[in-house]
Amino acid sequence: MENELRQIGGRKQLGYVLSRSRSDYAYFQPLKEMEALIKEGMFVVIISRNEGLTYLAEITGISHYNEYYEKGEIWAEALREGFPPPDEISRRYTVAALRILGVLTPQGLRNPDKPPLPGDLVYPASLNDLQSLYHYDLSSGQTPARFIEIGKIYGYESEELKLPALLDTNNINMHFAVIGTTGSGKSNTMGRIIEMLGARSGIDLPGGYKTIPVMIVDANGDYLDYFENPELVKSYSKVKRLYFEGSEADNIRSQSSKAELKRIKIDLNALSPSEISETIIAIYHSGKLEGAELQLNYLSSFLSDIERLKEQFPLCMSNNNYEVDYNCIINKIDKLKELIEEDRKANKVHSSTADAVIRAVANFHELMVKKHNIIPSHGANAEINDDFVDDITNPKDPKLVILDFSTEGATGVDLTVKQFVVGNVLALLFKKFTAYRIQGVNRLLLFVIEEAQNYAPNTQVYPIGFSLAKKILASVATQGRKFGLCLGLVTQRPSYVDPIVMSMMNTFIIHRVAPGDIKFVSTVTGGLPKYIERRLTYMEPGLAVLTGQMNVFPYPIFVKVDRREKHKYSSIVNNE
Ligand SMILES: Nc1ncnc2c1ncn2[C@@H]1O[C@H](COP(=O)(O)OP(=O)(O)OP(=O)(O)O)[C@@H](O)[C@H]1O
Ligand SMILES: [Mg+2]
Repeated sequence: MENELRQIGGRKQLGYVLSRSRSDYAYFQPLKEMEALIKEGMFVVIISRNEGLTYLAEITGISHYNEYYEKGEIWAEALREGFPPPDEISRRYTVAALRILGVLTPQGLRNPDKPPLPGDLVYPASLNDLQSLYHYDLSSGQTPARFIEIGKIYGYESEELKLPALLDTNNINMHFAVIGTTGSGKSNTMGRIIEMLGARSGIDLPGGYKTIPVMIVDANGDYLDYFENPELVKSYSKVKRLYFEGSEADNIRSQSSKAELKRIKIDLNALSPSEISETIIAIYHSGKLEGAELQLNYLSSFLSDIERLKEQFPLCMSNNNYEVDYNCIINKIDKLKELIEEDRKANKVHSSTADAVIRAVANFHELMVKKHNIIPSHGANAEINDDFVDDITNPKDPKLVILDFSTEGATGVDLTVKQFVVGNVLALLFKKFTAYRIQGVNRLLLFVIEEAQNYAPNTQVYPIGFSLAKKILASVATQGRKFGLCLGLVTQRPSYVDPIVMSMMNTFIIHRVAPGDIKFVSTVTGGLPKYIERRLTYMEPGLAVLTGQMNVFPYPIFVKVDRREKHKYSSIVNNE
């Protein structure tokens, strides 16, 4: 009789619900032989005598008690003298805390509106119980293309009871952030996401995409594997690696017809005349525009005087001959200086303002044209221009693009120049994606940024560089997902990222974080349960908390992320 009670459907009872449960949490006392079996993160069900409800819950804490070891208890003096208590007769028990996730129904989880009763039986959750949380048949082992399996639910990694941890990419036109301290596994997680996108074959995304085009700002060379071995990401017909001229990567050759190596050449026309002016002046003043308003105003009106530019730079027209090509104009630095001198003589600009603007423009030219050669003589010669965006986001033929900002691809390139490139590329994408939407075309792109704090710095606490990339990132973050332009940010210091950008993230994969960042993380994610907060500071590499809209579960879960494919990156240096 007793044993029958303890088993249902071959499952062994774990224990009994204790008094004073609530609808959202409960305690249970495990049976003696189950004490060693239970662990934090484990899912259990409570088969309640209360209307026959089945609650799904998660073990969030385990406490062991022994009356002889209570503070100031009867055995305290004996302990003090070094006498061990007679353990075999002591009153010992274990209590497990449960977070009640919901009531299981054939339709899935529903909010509980009454607590379980004391004495209700607790069982380990079976695959069947958990099935209702997934949107497909788990036993088939076939994950529908719409989901990316980034790993397993923590504690459910074994062959017998394996639960996939999923990101719902129907919601990828959402923004997500991967955060955690150095070495906590962020790049592995992002790499895993990209590999899973690169392995997709089903077509069930808007616009008829089989997978989502991706562009990565690769700060440390974590994703160069995919250039080395495009077979790791088969769904992309090409992996394009873009690097700065003059870098070590000049000596590298691609090994595969699917891998393309190109120099970074941006199209300055992606920016408005006033954005170009702001960039030039801000770079000259190391990011600070205060006190440079006259210079900014003058340069801005200079670059906005289209009629004059057309007349003075007759060869600097874009292909269709209607628009001024600012790439060309910036390349013609001597003519630019000459015109500013003219303005000075005609008293159109104060002499000291003219001086400063000439120096600022010359500095910009020196850096972007002469030193790094990233602004071509004409927009048509840019690598990253309108055609490029059309090509990489083509639904029939999506591509993976790596902006190689590693020491190999950006040898000796300052952060300012990298920020300029990111800002420019984002401005181009924003412009293109707005146009797609107006044309009624469905396009998608996931834009991944490693070291996101360097491109959208919260200048209150992290004053670096200038703010062009940050401004455009904020626009993409607030409006981009309406157009199918999504962000995947990776950062060690979430509090160093611009709070506006951070607040627009709606999915978080949180690896181990520093205690000082817990409060911030909890706030931006919209609040995390206390037991998760406590756990965040001591998680092993690859363990993460997944929360937000791409999480198929309606509550934060612990995920053990799978390792990326093993492929050691090594450059092939051309020694000819
Ligand atoms: N899912 C995982 N499972 C097991 N080990 C992992 C996992 N993810 C990462 N690791 C281990 O942790 C190391 C660091 O991982 P990773 O480079 O992804 O960390 P990171 O957070 O990107 O670090 P950084 O801030 O320095 O860039 C890896 O080399 C690997 O050994
Ligand atoms: Mg990393």
